[in-house]
Amino acid sequence: MDHFTYRDGILHAEDVPLPEIAAEVGTPFYVYSTATLTRHYNLFDEALSPLDHLVCYAMKANSNQAVLTLMAKLGAGVDVVSGGEYRRAKAAGFPGDRIVFSGVGKTAEEMELALTGGIRQFNLESEPEMLLLSEVATRLGKTVPVTVRVNPDVDAKTHEKIATGKSENKFGIPISRASEVYAEIATLPGLEVVGIDVHIGSQLTDLAPFEAAYLKVADLTHQLRAEGHDIRRLDLGGGLGIPYERSNTAPPLPLEFGEVVKRTVGDLGCEVEIEPGRLIAGNAGLLVSDVIYVKKGEDRKFLILDAAMNDLIRPAMYDAWHDIVPIQEPVAGVEITPYDVVGPVCESGDTFSKGRALPPLKRGDLVAFRSAGAYGAVMSSEYNTRPLIPEVLVHEHQFAVIRARPTFDEIINRDSIPSWLEG
Ligand code: LLP
Repeated sequence: MDHFTYRDGILHAEDVPLPEIAAEVGTPFYVYSTATLTRHYNLFDEALSPLDHLVCYAMKANSNQAVLTLMAKLGAGVDVVSGGEYRRAKAAGFPGDRIVFSGVGKTAEEMELALTGGIRQFNLESEPEMLLLSEVATRLGKTVPVTVRVNPDVDAKTHEKIATGKSENKFGIPISRASEVYAEIATLPGLEVVGIDVHIGSQLTDLAPFEAAYLKVADLTHQLRAEGHDIRRLDLGGGLGIPYERSNTAPPLPLEFGEVVKRTVGDLGCEVEIEPGRLIAGNAGLLVSDVIYVKKGEDRKFLILDAAMNDLIRPAMYDAWHDIVPIQEPVAGVEITPYDVVGPVCESGDTFSKGRALPPLKRGDLVAFRSAGAYGAVMSSEYNTRPLIPEVLVHEHQFAVIRARPTFDEIINRDSIPSWLEG
């Protein structure tokens, strides 16, 4: 459930009519709902209780400081994958002991940053990384809690670009080698094994792969404990999918995911962490855009929007579907016809959807892409020198710009001219 509904024929974000935001900030823009973000965090928190647990929001999905500040206030932990994300977490008020550091290529600088600023744990992904972290921690006189991300060789049955749990993927260490790797860590100074980490992919719409992976983690917990390691924390990753297409069957709910967690690892006496990103932010956000033109092609109509692939790359990158709805509620019985929905960028890949069934639309109408709160703004770029679009947060009847649109001067002045070209 989200908080974007039609009232008196106009789509609202909570209590705010979207045309009101459009009039103030201009289009295109992203808009997020505080109530939906809060609700989604709470759903996970409740799904894992009464287990000892921490929901570590995967900020890669949406790392706006306002969203992070909300999560920190709700009591969430946070999953970061870069020094930049670590800095964002600290700036939003997350204490070090609620920040988990994931990622396959952490650098010595990033390790040092987190060791100095405070960290709950590093999720290690390779042996060279273990050696480097041991070195950096020892140099700083610290002992750092670590888990090892194991690759359970489970098919997440999701888009190939966001599946991470098969042995051919670059993530984690093969679960078959876990015993050997944990034995090696135990000999390294500066590292303290606290648990096991697993993350098999994103936008999973079936619970079976989670169940298979977590059962393997449960077996591994027993084995590693028998080998003398103090496994007391399990990081089970993120990945639960969201309903992108409202006319389709909805993926399982956090509550059902929580049941899988309890069934598979609930009796191990471990503290459980999860790292959801998409489910918290995805359906809490819309991308609102204006119709620039409706153009007649040979055999089709093009709906040319002022939003483009640089603002929302998911359709071009993953053939992702986003529901597109008019801000003005269509009247019942109106004729629905196919449109190719495109942006103004100069490549054919700048197509949001082909043959999308929509009510009649004309120049100047507003439309919204649903489920755009996760992996939308964070993956945007200024391709074609299109400024990054504003982000707006709504709370009941209030709204605030939480990232302003840069001016063209700001964009142009970020570049500099080398001396030999001046004059
Ligand atoms: N933890 C780790 C280690 C991850 O790599 C990810 C996502 C998550 C947690 C959060 O997964 P989520 O709950 O959001 O599914 N850009 C793609 C998604 C990439 C996901 C990468 N890793 C998209 O737009 O679909």
